[in-house]
Amino acid sequence: MIVLVFAMVCGVYICSVCLKQISTNSKIKIQDIQVIERPSPDVDHENLQISTVHYPNPETFSRAECAQNPVRYFAILSMQRSGSGWFETLLNSHVNVSSNGEIFSVLDRRINISSITQTLDKVYNLDWFTSASKNECSAAVGFKWMLNQGVMQHHKEISDYFNRRGVSAIFLFRRNLLRRMVSVLANSYDRHAKLLNGTHKSHVHSTEEAETLAKYKPMINSTLLISDLKEVEITATKALEYFNSTRHIVLYYEDLIKNPTKLKDVQAFLGLPVMDLTSRQVKIHKGPLSDHVKNWEDINKTLDGTAYESFLQADY
Ligand SMILES: *[C@@H]1O[C@H](CO)[C@@H](O)[C@H](O)[C@H]1NC(C)=O
Ligand SMILES: *[C@@H]1O[C@H](CO)[C@@H](O)[C@H](O)[C@H]1NC(C)=O
Ligand SMILES: *[C@@H]1O[C@H](CO)[C@@H](O)[C@H](O)[C@H]1NC(C)=O
Ligand SMILES: *[C@@H]1O[C@H](CO)[C@@H](O)[C@H](O)[C@H]1NC(C)=O
Ligand SMILES: *[C@@H]1O[C@H](CO)[C@@H](O)[C@H](O)[C@H]1NC(C)=O
Ligand SMILES: *[C@@H]1O[C@H](CO)[C@@H](O)[C@H](O)[C@H]1NC(C)=O
Repeated sequence: MIVLVFAMVCGVYICSVCLKQISTNSKIKIQDIQVIERPSPDVDHENLQISTVHYPNPETFSRAECAQNPVRYFAILSMQRSGSGWFETLLNSHVNVSSNGEIFSVLDRRINISSITQTLDKVYNLDWFTSASKNECSAAVGFKWMLNQGVMQHHKEISDYFNRRGVSAIFLFRRNLLRRMVSVLANSYDRHAKLLNGTHKSHVHSTEEAETLAKYKPMINSTLLISDLKEVEITATKALEYFNSTRHIVLYYEDLIKNPTKLKDVQAFLGLPVMDLTSRQVKIHKGPLSDHVKNWEDINKTLDGTAYESFLQADY
């Protein structure tokens, strides 16, 4: 009886070991087959993530000799008067970058998430044409998107889209929010005043033009100053949170000005051959901020001793 039971237990054990081996063998085979059957260029097997490398097939033209070159998708997420116009001209000076400007400044394109998605699809399929389009030999294609142009409102769907299509986000913020505020106020004044021979310009290409625009000294409402600065800060923090799961890089305007190697980081982030990038744009508000604000003493007093005190001194 004991021998019989022992033999039975042994038999069952051997059987179960055999079955296990058979099932792991077949599992390995299935995995092998899956890998062989899906050499999709959009899937990065190492990280099991959507790849950032794409081979778009535009409807409106043929990519010709560059069809074999991969293309990266990007979006510059920023706020008005944070240096994004300047940054974009730098990027577009690269022979393989097409950054198509502020395409969502047009309300129709961001009226709902389906029109946003449609617009994005068109841009990333290389079927969107602006003066910046490099067409067949683009190695990175994107545009500039202000946070108040639907980004915050539809952040969930947009970050899903970025993850699904492998779009990289380039955040561009300005550290000195007081300088940004001066620029916002001066720019909105010029929209009506049109200081440059009756035309409104947000960006200029000569020091004379910059000086003319900088002659206007805005008055800052000191009652609202702290809460306004805080609000901008919160918006930037929230945006970073919302897009945390996407592939992204965070840049600051001040760092780009002081440290030219930052531009190399951006090119590496976009997988581009590194080039010297140039822009013809000239900075409008140069020198100490006290020269550019009408009620400076008031502002100095308001920010003195607060978390924003450093904004009073910083050069950029
Ligand atoms: C989105 O807006 C477009 C244009 O206004 C409209 O034709 C479309 O029906 C809207 N889609 C949704 C889902 O609301
Ligand atoms: C960049 O553009 C040049 C000129 O159009 C082209 O010859 C080159 O292949 C492009 N490089 C990449 C990486 O797409
Ligand atoms: C404005 O007009 C004056 C006189 O015609 C000209 O000298 C100057 O260059 C113009 N400035 C700009 C910014 O166009
Ligand atoms: C500043 O803003 C507050 C609230 O909107 C307003 O009551 C006040 O009159 C403004 N002050 C100035 C100097 O414009
Ligand atoms: C983003 O996520 C990482 C890890 O998931 C976390 O460490 C980091 O603090 C997050 N950043 C923000 C801005 O939420
Ligand atoms: C701000 O005011 C204090 C005195 O109240 C002065 O010492 C300081 O230099 C001022 N700062 C700037 C940047 O003007």
